[in-house]
Amino acid sequence: MQVIATIDAFRQARAAFGPLGFVPTMGYLHAGHLSLVERARQAHGATAVSIFVNPTQFGPHEDFARYPRDMERDLRLLEGAGVDLVFAPAVGELYPEGFGTYILIPSADQVLEGAARPDHFSGVATVVCKLLNIVQPTRAYFGQKDAQQTVVVRQMVRDLNLPTTIVVAPTVREADGLAMSSRNTYLTPAQRTAAPVLYRGLLAAQARYAAGERDGEALRQTIREVLAREPLVRPEYVSVADPLTLRELVDLDHGALLSLAVRLGTVRLIDNLVLGPVDPKGSGNF
Ligand code: PAF
Repeated sequence: MQVIATIDAFRQARAAFGPLGFVPTMGYLHAGHLSLVERARQAHGATAVSIFVNPTQFGPHEDFARYPRDMERDLRLLEGAGVDLVFAPAVGELYPEGFGTYILIPSADQVLEGAARPDHFSGVATVVCKLLNIVQPTRAYFGQKDAQQTVVVRQMVRDLNLPTTIVVAPTVREADGLAMSSRNTYLTPAQRTAAPVLYRGLLAAQARYAAGERDGEALRQTIREVLAREPLVRPEYVSVADPLTLRELVDLDHGALLSLAVRLGTVRLIDNLVLGPVDPKGSGNF
C-alpha cells in the first residue's frame, strides 16, 4: 500500500493502475468505510482511499478542529483491507494560497442538511470534485448514511460531466441500530444509550408505511413521537421527502426518503431510511 501526500506523486502512482475504485473519507475509519472499501475492491481489484478532513465543509462553529483523527490506525485498517493507494494530503496541498474556486449547488442549500449547515455542500462538492480529478476513479463509493451528500455528488458529477460512476452503499449499523459515524465517539455513555432512538423512529415510520400509511405528515409525526420518548434527544428536523428532489411529500405515491437530524447535547446525529421504489435512473442504487 502506498501512502501519498502530494497531488503530483499520487498522479504518478495512479498511472500504474487501470480501472480503479475510490472511497473518499475524512478518516477515523469504521466498519461503514471498510464496507465501501470492500465493495470497491470486489468490483475493481485496484482501490484508492483518501483521508482528508476537509475544512471547507465545516461551518465556523462546527467541529473541524476537534474532528477525530487517527492516521496510524486508519492506515493499519486500510492495509488489512487490501487498499493499493492512500491519498492523505495536508490542507495546503488541496487549498493552496490563492485558492478561490467553489462549486455551488443552490438547490441543496435550501433543505435538510443544507438548510442547517450553510456552505456545507459547497465544501463537499468542491472537495469531491477535486478528489475525483486527482484520483481519476472508475467508480467512487459513498455511504447512504449521508443521503443528501449522495444526491449532491450525483448532481455535481452529472452537471460537470465527470467520468466517474457514483455508487451508494447501505448504511452500516451497530448491533442496536445506531448508524456508524466517526462522530459517535463524541457521545457520552448516557447519550450513546439514547442514540438508537433515531433508528427506532425511522423503523416505526417504515412499519406504518408497510401497513399502508401514505400520508407524509402522519409518518413525520410517527417519527417525532418516538423521538419524544428520549428526553436527551432534541430533534432538528424530521423529513419525509422525495428521494431525488428532497422536496417534502404530502402523499407518498412513489418512494420516499425518511431522514432526521437531532442533537444530543452538543453532538449532532443524522440518519435515514428509504421507503419503496426509487427511479433507478435518478439514483441508481438506493
Ligand atoms: O462523507 C465524508 O466523509 C465527506 O463528506 C467526504 C465525502 C469525504 C468529503 O469530504
